[in-house]
Amino acid sequence: MSAPEFDRAVKIAPSILSADFARLGEEVRAVEAAGADWVHVDVMDGHFVPNITIGPNVAAAIRPHVGTVMDVHLMIAPADPYLEDFVRAGADVVTIHAEAGPHLDRSLARIRELGARAGVSLTPATPPQAVEYVLDRCDLILAMTVNPGFGGQSFLHSQLPKVRALRAMIGDRPIRLQVDGGITPETAPLAVEAGADVLVAGSAVFRGGTPEAYRRNIEAIRAACG
Ligand code: DX5
Ligand code: ZN
Repeated sequence: MSAPEFDRAVKIAPSILSADFARLGEEVRAVEAAGADWVHVDVMDGHFVPNITIGPNVAAAIRPHVGTVMDVHLMIAPADPYLEDFVRAGADVVTIHAEAGPHLDRSLARIRELGARAGVSLTPATPPQAVEYVLDRCDLILAMTVNPGFGGQSFLHSQLPKVRALRAMIGDRPIRLQVDGGITPETAPLAVEAGADVLVAGSAVFRGGTPEAYRRNIEAIRAACG
């Protein structure tokens, strides 16, 4: 990933969980043409979360259609046995959950060793301190603003103080602070004000189902953040 894609500007990362799964390549190209900065890929295993989505083969099939950053969010436990598969599939960022395994420090180090950016995600009940001693191992922290598993849920305002605490904890380290879940033109500015700089949005981007709608939806989120 080149440096500009990891600069400090606020990024919008549409989650393809809300795309048409029968036309994923086309959908990825359409959201990028509509102004997406990153493409967020939600991987669920029916075990860590109560839903099953896509695996490394589908991620690899999407990859040639992604011209920006392929941001893979692993909601799977264990994650370690699959890290290599997702990096090989072309993930630029691989994010694992702090709750998904006992050796977070080692798993994050492994992602970097494989050549990807390492992310760590926290579900709503996990305190920010869970990442305190792995900060130097990560390139991205994801504060979930819904309970992971499904698109279209409502933003949990209870997470804003956590976003703020994580921003303070990050200090001047080169770590992106991502939020995911219930991001809309109404909630996006609250997250940005609290310190988030990567906004994942699924239903708020893909609603309408056409390239023109995607452009309007992305613009609306960007404009709301000033
Ligand atoms: C939730 C996923 C999200 C989800 C967001 O478990 O990690 O990326 O797709 O969807 P919306 O934006 O609809 O809440
Ligand atoms: Zn996600």
